[in-house]
Amino acid sequence: MARVVFEEVCKRYGGVSAVENFSAVVEDGEFLVLVGPSGCGKSTTLRMVAGLEEITSGRLSIDGREVTDVPPKDRDIAMVFQNYALYPHMTVYKNMAFGLKLRGLPRAEIDARVREAAETLGLTGLLERLPKQLSGGQRQRVAVGRAIVRKPKVFLFDEPLSNLDAKMRVEMRAEIRRLHRLLKATMIYVTHDQVEAMTMGDRIVVMNRGRIQQIAPPLEVYRRPSNVFVAGFIGTPPMNMVRMSVKGGVFESGAMRFALPECGIPDGEVTVGFRPESLAPANPGTAFAFTGRVDSSEPMGAETFASLSLADGSAVVARLPPDFPCRSDAAVTLAFDPSRLSFFSSETGAAYTFCVGVKSKQDLL
Ligand SMILES: Nc1ncnc2c1ncn2[C@@H]1O[C@H](COP(=O)(O)OP(=O)(O)O)[C@@H](O)[C@H]1O
Ligand SMILES: [Mg+2]
Repeated sequence: MARVVFEEVCKRYGGVSAVENFSAVVEDGEFLVLVGPSGCGKSTTLRMVAGLEEITSGRLSIDGREVTDVPPKDRDIAMVFQNYALYPHMTVYKNMAFGLKLRGLPRAEIDARVREAAETLGLTGLLERLPKQLSGGQRQRVAVGRAIVRKPKVFLFDEPLSNLDAKMRVEMRAEIRRLHRLLKATMIYVTHDQVEAMTMGDRIVVMNRGRIQQIAPPLEVYRRPSNVFVAGFIGTPPMNMVRMSVKGGVFESGAMRFALPECGIPDGEVTVGFRPESLAPANPGTAFAFTGRVDSSEPMGAETFASLSLADGSAVVARLPPDFPCRSDAAVTLAFDPSRLSFFSSETGAAYTFCVGVKSKQDLL
């Protein structure tokens, strides 16, 4: 078990920056998820922890020891990859035992560890099979088992579930969380899938273009995104964002008008964000109501997502009750919950920290 500390870690390939000033502390026993779109630097960050990529500048330490220049085999980490990376000609047992054999562990110790990991992962009956005789989910379990037997200080996962079908992904998500509780180990987990990030992480690091955008527990990221990128990336459908003018706490766009005298947003232009589920059917003329026309709707069974066009040309998605009538082109009036608005600078995209209902950081905790 170990704490991992990144201090202004940078990675450049030639002149191109892949990771820029990554600073973060992964606490002992924490499950930290790195999430962001393809190419944002997640794998590079993880590979620098593993020692598979050299760190261009900055410092990295594991369990109080600086490892910036320590070779991979001396870092006491284990990594699980998307493509499993199993040896095709070795049985499940041998795949799991191989790393320990290389390290010269006694045979009895290897056997005990492999059998214990197999038991934990439900692989006991499959130990004599070859990888090609396993399903995708079972192969991924073997890859995880190979990491567990090492008893590493830190587990690293790079998109380990991306090759699995949707149902198996949900199962393995729960399985990996269960392992984390059982092993109480430090884990860093990379994914481009924001649902995986939300459901698995103790905390999430949202990245974009090589830079950290926000580090926080999942619900805080969801409720109080630090900027418009995070607001758009976390949550499906994404947060609605409408540009409005504000003067003395009165907000206006071509399609909405409302007053929040206490909000503290300076006069000028502001981007107002609200989630599809913070909208509800309302009567025209009531507070925080606006009217739009239905472009399309997606009935999901338990809910319907309706896309509306507003008079000023903006578009809004609302999560509505499944039986709510939303034929194409129908006029629909909705109101949002003012306590669940986010405000962003239209210039920089950064969130204003003072929002309705949130006067200080303490209100978030
Ligand atoms: N070996 C390499 N040489 C040059 N550029 C690379 C190399 N590996 C990654 N990159 C670049 O670094 C950036 C981050 O890549 P990566 O960490 O793999 O992203 P992610 O895992 O988030 O999809 C990308 O722009 C990618 O093209
Ligand atoms: Mg990657």
